[in-house]
Amino acid sequence: MAIHQPDIIEWHDEVPVSTRFGDPYYSVDNGLAESAHVFLKGNGLPDRFVSGFHIAELGFGTGLNLLVALDSWRKSKIHGPLIYTSFEAYPLSPTQMIKAHRNFSKIHVLAAELAHEWNTKICRPDLEFNLIVGDARDTLKSWDGEVDAWFLDGFSPAKNPELWEASLLSQVGKHTKFGGTFATYTAAGFVRRSLQEAKFEVERTPGYGRKRHMTRGIKL
Ligand SMILES: C[S@@+](CC[C@H](N)C(=O)[O-])C[C@H]1O[C@@H](n2cnc3c(N)ncnc32)[C@H](O)[C@@H]1O
Repeated sequence: MAIHQPDIIEWHDEVPVSTRFGDPYYSVDNGLAESAHVFLKGNGLPDRFVSGFHIAELGFGTGLNLLVALDSWRKSKIHGPLIYTSFEAYPLSPTQMIKAHRNFSKIHVLAAELAHEWNTKICRPDLEFNLIVGDARDTLKSWDGEVDAWFLDGFSPAKNPELWEASLLSQVGKHTKFGGTFATYTAAGFVRRSLQEAKFEVERTPGYGRKRHMTRGIKL
């Protein structure tokens, strides 16, 4: 993996925590179940999967969401690749990622399979992965992709406000196909309003675990 500005992490009960942002990379309750609930179910997946389905993500972190999505993709037995593009300013090292995946026995086989391939590009028959390194506020503007589903997974809006800025979420809207969707674990009012301004029809739905609500939306 091309390391840009490596992040410093601490491990709290085996959960990686960013010292830069003071927040865990995934739910301390069950990161895997939260990812499936928020990002897959929130985007109507796996039911919407078709060959070449394109997911983009703000905040690659440990790559857990990618593993959860690819696991679901494989189980759907769709021919052709899942396209997955993720935007990340502070990539973790492969060693940190592999350690983070050890917590999840359900994706153990997949994680072991990709452990030697963590790089900014992966090209396999069932996965085209592209990691775009840099501040998403700069890199998304100049990107020319249009996606079917967004995973909006910055750290909490209070600790990582830059990944929830209205101008960035407006770019998310511009890089979404009509009928495309987003999902995020946060239900912060300013995030919902920015996503409405970005031309999404937005709804608040039940969150995972201790989180009462999450947000999802569709571009009409
Ligand atoms: C909650 S973590 C993402 C967790 C990840 N999706 C996973 O599956 O492990 C948030 C990520 O957003 C990244 N990030 C924060 N600010 C950013 C920015 N301005 N541009 C791009 N990435 C950013 C952080 O470095 C971190 O990896």
